[in-house]
Amino acid sequence: MCGIIGYTGKEEALPLLLGGLERLEYRGYDSAGIALIEDGKMIVEKRVGKIRELVRSLWGKPYKGKTGIGHTRWATHGEPSTENAHPHTDEKEEFAVVHNGIVENYLELKRELESEGVKFRSGTDTEVIAHLIAKNYNGDLLEAVLKAVERLRGAFAFAVITVHEPGRIVGVKQGSPLVVGIGEGENFLASDIPAILPYTRKVIALGDGEIADITPEGVNIYDFSGTPLTKEITVVPWDIISAEKAGFKHFMLKEIYEQPKAVGDTIRGLISSGSELPFSLKSFRRVLIIACGTSYHAGLIGKLWIEKYAQVPVEVVFASEFRYSDSPVSEQDLVVAVSQSGETIDTKFAVNYARERGAYTLAIVNVVGSSIDRESDYTLHTHAGPEIGVAATKTFLAQLAALYFLASSEHPQKERLLEELLKVPSMIEKTLEDAEIVEKIAQKYMKMKDFLYLGRYLSYPIALEGALKLKEISYIHAEGYPAGEMKHGPIALIDERMPVVVVAPQDRVYEKTISNIEEVRTRKGKVISVGFRGDEKLEKLSEEFIPVPAVEEDLSPFVTSVPLQLLAYHIASKLGLDVDQPRNLAKTVTVE
Ligand code: M6R
Repeated sequence: MCGIIGYTGKEEALPLLLGGLERLEYRGYDSAGIALIEDGKMIVEKRVGKIRELVRSLWGKPYKGKTGIGHTRWATHGEPSTENAHPHTDEKEEFAVVHNGIVENYLELKRELESEGVKFRSGTDTEVIAHLIAKNYNGDLLEAVLKAVERLRGAFAFAVITVHEPGRIVGVKQGSPLVVGIGEGENFLASDIPAILPYTRKVIALGDGEIADITPEGVNIYDFSGTPLTKEITVVPWDIISAEKAGFKHFMLKEIYEQPKAVGDTIRGLISSGSELPFSLKSFRRVLIIACGTSYHAGLIGKLWIEKYAQVPVEVVFASEFRYSDSPVSEQDLVVAVSQSGETIDTKFAVNYARERGAYTLAIVNVVGSSIDRESDYTLHTHAGPEIGVAATKTFLAQLAALYFLASSEHPQKERLLEELLKVPSMIEKTLEDAEIVEKIAQKYMKMKDFLYLGRYLSYPIALEGALKLKEISYIHAEGYPAGEMKHGPIALIDERMPVVVVAPQDRVYEKTISNIEEVRTRKGKVISVGFRGDEKLEKLSEEFIPVPAVEEDLSPFVTSVPLQLLAYHIASKLGLDVDQPRNLAKTVTVE
């Protein structure tokens, strides 16, 4: 939530900041702004709305400053408005701050500063940071930041510049992500790696409680007591091509088509990093999978695989619920945190909760060096590459690959299972060949107001995920439900205006699902089914039929999920909606 970027170097900072902000826009897009130091003065420009509004407002203003910071906002404290847009400055406009996260004690600090005569101009928590730094400044920005940080509580990351020390940026990380990019005669700060990928692949992922002090000449890292730290520089294996649209209309569509590669790279990455895990699933009393949103749906499928292959009981919990439960976690538990970003605050807190109680923590994350990656005992990385669309697609399938790898780790026929898994990328490719069928269905049903998604066993989480995709990008109400549970309530919703998407591969529950389809038809619901190619029975029972290649029962989620992603995509795209940046959402949710 919110993206921040900083640049100091030999180039004009403005185009670099705006380019970086565009790549960070998926993190929030309520307003955007930049601050630059030019001729000893602080220049601040901000606008409500997307980055393009900010860019428009900058036409004809050829700022030349070589040090600056930028921000794209997902509003938490204070409505989206120009006053509340970042950067925020102190009263004399000598210090400018961009911030991601929440300062929990900002009201207390605000009252204190106001009682000292400080006039606030926004309703944000961020502004207190600017005033606190100005108040503590005594000729050294780092020192002032260290003093200000002592007073702040919450989870946040921020970057600050001052007219007194042009060329210097200080960045702080406590709970929200922040990386340092190392260039030649120039250095960067950003919330996420893709923002700086066109300029450098060398990054330092800051840990919580760390401060980066950057100038064009160098980078120094400290802890909050001011002690210098030695940090490892990582060379990121992605390149900018994979973070651009490559001819697709939207990132989401590009990412759907990248799924064969994302899954293939993930499987090969996991196999080549050694197929022996440093723990045995069977040695734990239970496995607890903790995640949010799409990652939670991946976890539901992981549960069925782990219970089947490893015969260990598995619970899947929403991270936001888990944290405030009194779950009796102990060293007998394996806690698996599934997260694309590795920064989702609920999941991160859940990992900490589990670690404090002695559980072994395993992360399944896409972003190398992210908080959850670093804070867990062991990580299985998904190698999906950067995912820019807010709706998770390729990272979902990559998470499934990692969970399948985990589940099969102790199975006597592990080799055979992995061989089957290696066939999945070509199956996904075949699934994508029928994308046109899905687009036609989208055209026909795009005006419907509600959708029901049904599935049983492995297809139930796929139904949940299909409904989530439709909701988040098309704003159409959709519900996912276990097909067998429908008769206990939701069947009352069905009439001729209700499209019912049924995920029905030929698996152990196929016949039962067919009976559920009959129940829908009897009530005149419009059945859109996803089933194995050549399944004439299913096709005859359905208003619309989307074929997917026939695969082994356990691998069906890899193919059945794809048409549901495409259905949501085409409906949203045909409705003219902002597919990659749906309203009210952000890619990485770093607030509770
Ligand atoms: O980065 P994470 O996997 O932890 O994110 C979890 C959810 O916020 C995420 O999956 C969200 O539900 C997506 N927008 C779904 O498409």
